[in-house]
Amino acid sequence: MNLKGKTILITGGASGIGLEAAKQFSALGAKVIITGRNQAKLDAVKKSFPFITAVQSDAGNEADAKALFNTVKELGGIDILYNNAAVLVPPSNLGIANDNHIKGAAYEMEVNYIGVIRLNNLFLDMLKSRNEAAIINTTSILSQAPSLIEATYSSSKTALAFYTISLREHLKIIGSSVKIFELIPPLVATEMTAGRNDKKISAEEMVKGMIKGLSKNQYTLKVGDAKLFSLINRFLPKTAFNLLNPKKDHQLLKN
Ligand SMILES: NC(=O)c1ccc[n+]([C@@H]2O[C@H](COP(=O)([O-])OP(=O)(O)OC[C@H]3O[C@@H](n4cnc5c(N)ncnc54)[C@H](OP(=O)(O)O)[C@@H]3O)[C@@H](O)[C@H]2O)c1
Repeated sequence: MNLKGKTILITGGASGIGLEAAKQFSALGAKVIITGRNQAKLDAVKKSFPFITAVQSDAGNEADAKALFNTVKELGGIDILYNNAAVLVPPSNLGIANDNHIKGAAYEMEVNYIGVIRLNNLFLDMLKSRNEAAIINTTSILSQAPSLIEATYSSSKTALAFYTISLREHLKIIGSSVKIFELIPPLVATEMTAGRNDKKISAEEMVKGMIKGLSKNQYTLKVGDAKLFSLINRFLPKTAFNLLNPKKDHQLLKN
């Protein structure tokens, strides 16, 4: 997949991996549109990078999704939809009854899973009309094995991973050439992982790895340690589970 000359919509592009991708895609000659919920963050990006278009839009909100589609259409449409936005609720023990389990899981599913299906559904016909088009769905190594302190987030990413495989196959069945990528990052140093003291790669390194994979049409795009983790999980699933869930994390689940 060639990024030069493409127009790319990145959800949640005002910080973290999304913003880094916006910068690197732009440097490669792509036109980038980002979304986010926080207008002040979007304004700051526009100020520092005036070549990036920023649109306020909540990836978990139906009215916002429709409005975003109309705005993007007026701007000339897109070739690539990069579903990057996601949310993660704080750790809680699912074995201790609490209404927050339901609220948290619903929120994560709405943004991380349903919101992606909704946006893809809105943009599919536009993407099909382009010469070379793609959707990039961001899952995680936590879609392959559950993280106990990110339990419902892990589940939302597994749902997204299965949906992504089915979407790819469904498009093949109808003869569509829209490419479906599943981006599987390792642990990346961003706001989302600020509280974790484990080995992380930078967002810059992560996006470089993604661009390399996109250029080779690697539809299951495992960056950095995500490749090794998948192998361990395949052959030694218990070891993979223990790697994701060190005993030190259990303290966070005591109440
Ligand atoms: N960091 C990691 O280690 C890691 C590992 C595996 C997978 N991932 C995945 O990689 C993607 C990016 O992660 P990240 O670490 O860059 O996250 P991040 O630091 O939390 O940044 C997420 C960005 O998305 C925006 N966002 C959040 N909810 C949104 C919504 N409902 N609508 C629109 N924008 C929204 C946020 O801005 P606003 O709050 O202003 O909306 C923020 O700019 C996510 O899908 C995440 O699950 C990350």
